[in-house]
Order: sequence, then structure tokens, then C-alpha cells
Amino acid sequence: MNEFDPLFEPELSRLDAQHWLRQCRVIESACAPEIVYQGRRLILMASNDYLGLANHPAVKEAAAQAIRQYGIGAGAARLISGTQPPHHDLEVALAKWKDAEAALCFGSGYLANLGLLSSLAGPQDIILADRLCHASVIDGCRLSRARLRIFHHADVDHLERLLKRRPAVRRTLIVTDGLFSMDGDLAPLSALARLANQYEGLLVVDDAHGTGVMGAHGRGSLEACGVEADVPFHMGTLGKALGTSGAYVVGSETFVRFLVNTARTFLFTTSPPAAMAAATIAALELLQREPDRRARLWANREVLFQGLIRMGLRLTATASPILPVIIGDEALALGVAQALLERGIYAPAIRPPTVPKGSSRIRLTVTAEHTREHLDQVLHAFQDILASRSLT
Ligand SMILES: Cc1ncc(COP(=O)(O)O)c(C=O)c1O
Repeated sequence: MNEFDPLFEPELSRLDAQHWLRQCRVIESACAPEIVYQGRRLILMASNDYLGLANHPAVKEAAAQAIRQYGIGAGAARLISGTQPPHHDLEVALAKWKDAEAALCFGSGYLANLGLLSSLAGPQDIILADRLCHASVIDGCRLSRARLRIFHHADVDHLERLLKRRPAVRRTLIVTDGLFSMDGDLAPLSALARLANQYEGLLVVDDAHGTGVMGAHGRGSLEACGVEADVPFHMGTLGKALGTSGAYVVGSETFVRFLVNTARTFLFTTSPPAAMAAATIAALELLQREPDRRARLWANREVLFQGLIRMGLRLTATASPILPVIIGDEALALGVAQALLERGIYAPAIRPPTVPKGSSRIRLTVTAEHTREHLDQVLHAFQDILASRSLT
């Protein structure tokens, strides 16, 4: 307690009264299908480590080897003296994987979205963004100071109405997540690309969750929707299916040079450690060399999805390993998360402002490393909870 606390307490009390208050929970083990929390072994159903690479021996060894060679910190921003061979090699590997001319890495997806959107747009421009875009996308739009219009989620007709009504601007951006993080559904990328073309706009896709998961080769939502050749650049993150940390933008060489020179979240921040880049190179190799991981992920997804549906639980229109069980009320969602915890399942309640009011949910995420026993235990836990309270 100190004399300044009264400045902050009212806000905390308000959040608490709404059941919106959050706090960090300390997980006492590595990110894996089974974790240790408060000394208990639990099944983790909340990570984005879709392919099980976050704790993979080859990925960890690549980081350890790079630490031995390059140390921990890069010591400066990328453009000063913070670019070491793994940074360069990762960008080459990402560009090759995506069949793009070039790639640029950022310290996180949040930073990539702020940098990308504020470089692309300014006060003389307009951005049309899907209502369910990630917070970092919305913050990037705001930072750009462009006019911002929100279209109904995945509603191409609404977007087109807004496009027709837009004022004369220098540049029009259509912005969407590829795979929506809290609903698990795919954006209508083919229709969005068509509209971008028709109205001379730029389509900006955040494929944080699609990367490594969607598409026949795991190249992401653009691959899944068959629009890789139609979208000139896009971003994705490295902290989800690739199991490491950071983000990338892929596009033409000119576009990447433009970002290197304009994206403030690239220019004015210390370079991520070379070890992280080395680990990501190893993860990217595994992703490409072991398609089986993706096959296991999708098989697991199907088992859990079908089981939840059979129970009559209300899910979003998910098309991915993100399986959100809609509860609605914040307090009830917290109660279900607690009941799951008591049954050995770690899957926190997702509440506003992360999701719209009244749509609080248990967001289950499946990974390639979950076993059939893990998934059965999750289904049993839900069955048990349903026996004592109504969730539908
Ligand atoms: C759609 C989306 N974009 C961006 C981010 C931010 O990425 P990062 O965690 O690397 O900052 C996330 C999640 O964290 C996300 O779900």
C-alpha cells in the first residue's frame, strides 16, 4: 500500500464487480499437455502451442547452442548492431517457406501489428476492420490515426456497403485476422481479397493462429483459402504453432525495405535474442519435416469437437483447433473454469474485454501432443459439470 493506491483502486473495484478482474497464475512447469499448477498435475487446454514445439528438444537445443555462440542479449536494435546470423537466416527461411521475396521479424505479434498498420496508414487513409480483430490490430489501426470503420464479423456485404460509402482517401485498408483467436473461425479471405481488388484497397491479414495450423502444408489461412497469390503481404506470429516468440511479415523485397525504414516497433526496440531466432528456425524445420504433427492436431481436434457437440454444448462456428464453449455470463464462466480446475483441467474463462459482453467462454485449444486419454478426461469433466448445472 502507498499513498498513490487510491488513484488505482476504484478501477480495480469496478473490474472486480463486473467479474472482469484478472491476475497472472504461475505455471510451475514447461508448456506441455500436462502442466503443474499449485503443485497439482493438470491437463493444459489453453495454450496456443498447437504443434507441441514449445518444449521440443531440438528447438531447445537450437536455442542453447545459439546462446553459447551469440550470448543472451543482442545488445541493440536490429538496425544498430542487433542483427546476428540467426536473425537473417530466420527471415530467409520464413520467406522461402511462404514463397515470398522477403520477410521481416518483430519482437512480438503485438509489435508487428502496431508497426505494420502505423506504417501503412495515416490520417489521410481509411481502415475497415473486422469487429473481432485482435486487440493489437485495433491498437495498430488507432496508432495510424487513419479513419477507422468496423464491419460486422466476417460480413462481406456490410464491408462492401462501407467501402461504397467511404470518403475520398489516399489509401484504403481492409484488415482482418486470418483465423480468429477467440472464435476459431476463418475469415472469408477469398471474398475480402476480391473486394480489396475491386475497391483498390490493401488487404492486411493477421495470421497469428493460422500459421502452422491451417492449409494443406500449414502455411496458414491464406493457403487454406487459396489466396496466397492474391494477397501481397501478411503477418503471423511465432509464439503459437511455432512454439517460440516473435512475429513475421512476409511480402516483396520493396515492402520489407519500406517496413525496415518506417515501422517504429522494428526501428526503436532492442533486437529479440538470436537464440529465439535460432529456435524458430529449428521449429520451422520441424513443422515442414513432420506433417504428421498437423495430422495429429486435426485428429485430436475432431475427437474433442465431436464429443463437445454430442453433449449439446454451444460452440462458436469454429473451423480450427480452437474450440470455444460459449457460457455467456462472466460469473458462470468463471464457475465452470473453476469446476474444470477441480477436475484436473486447466482452461481459464475468457471474458470481456477479450470477447464481447455476454459471450464469456471456456476457450479450449487442442494440440498435437494431447493423448486420447487427455481428451477423454476433458469430455468427462464437462459431462460431470453438466450433470450439476445447465450450460446450454
Ligand atoms: C490474432 C492475434 N494477433 C496478434 C497477437 C499478438 O501476438 P503476440 O502474442 O506475439 O504479441 C495475438 C495473440 O497473442 C493474436 O491472437
